Amino acid sequence: MALLDDLTWRYATKKYDPSKKVSDKDIRTILEAARLAPTSSGLQQYRILVITNQDIKDKMVPIAAGQQIVAEASHVLVFAAWDRYTEERIDEIYNKTTDQRGLPRGRFSSYTDKLKNLYLPQTEDENFVHTARQAYIGFSLAIAQAAELRIDSTPMEGFSNHELDELLHLRTEGLRSVLLLPIGYRDTDNDWLASMKKVRNDINDFVKFLD
Ligand SMILES: Cc1cc2nc3c(=O)[nH]c(=O)nc-3n(C[C@H](O)[C@H](O)[C@H](O)COP(=O)(O)O)c2cc1C
Repeated sequence: MALLDDLTWRYATKKYDPSKKVSDKDIRTILEAARLAPTSSGLQQYRILVITNQDIKDKMVPIAAGQQIVAEASHVLVFAAWDRYTEERIDEIYNKTTDQRGLPRGRFSSYTDKLKNLYLPQTEDENFVHTARQAYIGFSLAIAQAAELRIDSTPMEGFSNHELDELLHLRTEGLRSVLLLPIGYRDTDNDWLASMKKVRNDINDFVKFLD
């Protein structure tokens, strides 16, 4: 039940102690959980930026609707997804896969052709809806891994994606921001949410069992 203990312990931290920094080792463990996350067709359609630079974190506050969380947290992870699918992006990971498994390149070409026929005719926005969904999976595992290490985090969608993309020059890298994950250590005395009960729907309202 360790995972459930971790998920019960965590909450969307509102106030961090800026003097407490997460170690490099722990950050790498959290990132590894996201890296190991499954993605649709194994394409890993997103990247993570790790921000510790205080100037950048301060500039993110107005972009995040004034939420000081991004300035006070030890690290801010930015989950940014591919702006669109391309033939090269699909081939790159499949070539890596065949190379690492000792298989001939093109071994999966009938499958990658299907992916290309599905995604390449779509609009960029349609592509991004799909690539962005993948980011949520790694995001969730990063939150869980942080909790297992008793490190606080705050899932955040409350920011201007467009402005953040400009600040971090994401579009030039073929990426668009999806989510923020500030990480650090809670300031229990000054966080109004720290002592509040966790509220969730009852399991019978949340789950429908079809026997
Ligand atoms: C995708 C997503 C976006 C969120 N965006 C914000 C945000 O911008 N700011 C914030 O303070 N909390 C944000 N939250 C936190 C939620 O309000 C919080 O997770 C929810 O109320 C459940 O509470 P708990 O996480 O403390 O258990 C977000 C959560 C998720 C999953």
